[in-house]
Amino acid sequence: MISQDRIQAILDRLVEYTDGGATCALPMRWFSRALEQTSLLGGLAEGAVEIGVRGGGLSAMFCEIAKLEAPLQFKVMSVDPWGGAPYFAPSPAYQFVYDEAWYVKAKAVLAGYENSILFCMTAESFVTSVLPSFRWWHKGIEHPGHKRFLSFAYLDGCHENTFVMQEALGVLPYMLPGAVLAVDNADYCIEAVTMLSASRRYKLECFENGGDPHRAAFTFTL
Ligand SMILES: C[S@@+](CC[C@H](N)C(=O)[O-])C[C@H]1O[C@@H](n2cnc3c(N)ncnc32)[C@H](O)[C@@H]1O
Repeated sequence: MISQDRIQAILDRLVEYTDGGATCALPMRWFSRALEQTSLLGGLAEGAVEIGVRGGGLSAMFCEIAKLEAPLQFKVMSVDPWGGAPYFAPSPAYQFVYDEAWYVKAKAVLAGYENSILFCMTAESFVTSVLPSFRWWHKGIEHPGHKRFLSFAYLDGCHENTFVMQEALGVLPYMLPGAVLAVDNADYCIEAVTMLSASRRYKLECFENGGDPHRAAFTFTL
């Protein structure tokens, strides 16, 4: 697991690409924990996904941790349409516009990471078109279990229940046992978070969120 000092050092380096350091420390810990859990359960963690990327700071933080703690082939997939795409949030107070300037910022910071892949598209397109057709090679061999390769998913795109549910149900079939599914702004999409917690198909066990109602994270078991 990543140490607090290491988290702080990464935050200090990348904070200008985020909306503030405090909001990133917890997802960084979750990500590190997900890598540890999936590897303890024998899974070959090869990827993580952040949906809703904005300025790229958090994806870059995941890239930093992956370089320290994940296998060489591990990729951080960052999904966002940018370009001022309609952004669905439960209240007009949260209806921001994320335009090309944010894309430029994200591209600039993530260009420095060989383990980053940008998907300039909506989460809906990513989960319905990209994930089902994804093929993955390692040392010249197509990963036989490529259906399950994600150790971590962080949902921070549109915050309405239907979007969050579609994203969660879209990524779960690709997640390894022990993987972590995290939902930002969980208090905006309580219905989706409650439905996920109650799911019998996916055993999702809620865990430590530092007492922050804004965020939820689940460990996923098959
Ligand atoms: C709150 S910001 C993400 C912040 C980022 N996770 C961070 O921690 O710095 C929300 C992002 O969701 C993106 N977004 C909007 N519609 C989307 C969609 N349909 N699919 C994926 N992302 C979307 C926006 O462009 C915006 O960049």
